[in-house]
Amino acid sequence: MKQLKLPDFTMAYDDQGRGLPVLCVHGYPLNRSLWQPQLENLDDVARLIAPDLRGHGDSKISSKYTLPAGGYSMDLFADDCAALLKALKIREPVVFCGLSMGGYVAFSFFRRYPELVRALILVATRAGADTDAIKEARREAIANVLGTGTEAIVESMLPNMLSVHTRSNQPETVQRVAGMMASTPTETIVGDLTGMMNRPNSTPLLNKINVPTLLIFGGDDKIINLWDMNNLRDDIPGAVTRFISFAGHLPNLEQVEVFNQQVRSFLTQLNQEAEA
Ligand code: MLT
Repeated sequence: MKQLKLPDFTMAYDDQGRGLPVLCVHGYPLNRSLWQPQLENLDDVARLIAPDLRGHGDSKISSKYTLPAGGYSMDLFADDCAALLKALKIREPVVFCGLSMGGYVAFSFFRRYPELVRALILVATRAGADTDAIKEARREAIANVLGTGTEAIVESMLPNMLSVHTRSNQPETVQRVAGMMASTPTETIVGDLTGMMNRPNSTPLLNKINVPTLLIFGGDDKIINLWDMNNLRDDIPGAVTRFISFAGHLPNLEQVEVFNQQVRSFLTQLNQEAEA
């Protein structure tokens, strides 16, 4: 683990491999260990940089820090990512790989720093803002977590995060995800939920995305529906879409080999284009 001191907190991150920089941004309520199977297996084709977003994993927030009224906005997370790249002196545009909430951060990042984006890998994410029903569910989740702690989130989310196949056949993956969720502090969960609730609709941005884009979805994702997936596929010019069978919301953990193969082939093509 490496660390970078930022004004509000110390950001923990992993940085592995050489070449094309790929910034891997985790979802809610997870942390950078989500990307371990990619860091271990794709570092021969790229330089993988995986931060813990503020408040997650080892990017602890001091008890003196006051959560912004709008929660952890996707813009705030995007600015933290940009600060990391600047500190690492990475001046070339990067591949931004975001899963779910990490994808919401990718849209923010693209909006704020288009010159820093070489390509996008959007995993199990959506462009639309929260519907009223989702906002209501988030308010309930905030009340639950404030009332009974993180355990409430683990119990309610876990069945939606992983496919039935994963839950029946990969107990270590189930444990790993439950562990990540359980270790996320209550304030971080509130910060994420509030920030996601307030995020803008990124649909109008989609047809302005002018970089190579790979979309990856789990075939059994219960959180991102087909409408969300089609919206991204149809509106991002030239986007390549891949569905992974037997995977739910976390295809990079649930079907590591297939996921890595798809990302490897996308990165290899980018590398070839850079050499041509
Ligand atoms: C995530 O995995 O980051 C969340 O499920 C996203 C969301 O709740 O919208």
